[in-house]
Amino acid sequence: MLCYFAPMEGLTGPVFREVHHAMFPGTDRYYTPFLAPTQNHQFAARDLREILPPERSGVPTVPQLLTKSSADFLWAEGELRSLGFEEVNLNLGCPSSTVVAKGKGSGLLGDLPRLEELLEGIFAGCALPVSLKTRIGLKDAESWEPLLALYDRFPAAELIIHPRTRTELYTGNIHEDAFALAYARCTLPLCFNGEIRSVSRIRQLENRYPKLHAVMLGRGLVANPALVREYRGGEPLRKSELQAYHDALYTAYADRFGAHNAMHRMKEVWICLRTLFPAAGRCSDKIARNKDADELLYWAGRIFAEFDPVL
Ligand SMILES: Cc1cc2nc3c(=O)[nH]c(=O)nc-3n(C[C@H](O)[C@H](O)[C@H](O)COP(=O)(O)O)c2cc1C
Repeated sequence: MLCYFAPMEGLTGPVFREVHHAMFPGTDRYYTPFLAPTQNHQFAARDLREILPPERSGVPTVPQLLTKSSADFLWAEGELRSLGFEEVNLNLGCPSSTVVAKGKGSGLLGDLPRLEELLEGIFAGCALPVSLKTRIGLKDAESWEPLLALYDRFPAAELIIHPRTRTELYTGNIHEDAFALAYARCTLPLCFNGEIRSVSRIRQLENRYPKLHAVMLGRGLVANPALVREYRGGEPLRKSELQAYHDALYTAYADRFGAHNAMHRMKEVWICLRTLFPAAGRCSDKIARNKDADELLYWAGRIFAEFDPVL
């Protein structure tokens, strides 16, 4: 079974992907945080920095697009193809209010005719394989069955399912019954995403769904960067490695963007990392409120010196 790194805006940009891939090789694909192609059909320099062509990064990367226009998708797909990418992913899950208000991301899940038109346009014209990353509905899971039937009509390379509705954002129970329905009915290769934080959970999914094509790990893999290695029979994460990964990320961010920016980026990483240090609440709170790079490094150092990660 393949293992993917989930796209996470503000977290899994090119610097993060390079550091993780160099220190913990084995993740099969890294999905980029979404790029939103504009009507003027030009990627901003900032967007291009976010994706880094494959020959430059050496990281197996799948760019993700967020759009409701098949013309804009197909333009961007052509550009990405000429940069050397071999697959493109469509975001059908982003729950942000501004995105949903524009009818993009999970906003499309509440308008099946519009979604159908978009997918028809995309699959009629795309040259690269296109995978879809979806939630199970906008406000509730009522529309999951028709949504699944709709997806199944298109030759998507893979259907990546985060079994929550848009309203549920990133917390609360996963609707595993909705995933089970997809497993029973859908003919597309499937990928499970959501709350995978341990090797035992990956194995449980593999046992329950023997034909599962892939799992996609987000926050769990940010916190425990060795999860895929361990799943493949390698060593579990050592504390010294976790600290080295933390320090390598900070240094790479500081080199590329400066110390202040690196501090902000590491605060995002610590939102995930703190789950491994439940006894270090006071220090983790200091990091969350902190506004200074040296202070962040001081509190991070104390956590690594005084606490063991709970894996
Ligand atoms: C900070 C953050 C940023 C995210 N950005 C994206 C994104 O750009 N595109 C996307 O499809 N999903 C995005 N997601 C959703 C994740 O890809 C994933 O579906 C979600 O975190 C559930 O997986 P997990 O429980 O393994 O983290 C984001 C999630 C978080 C927490």
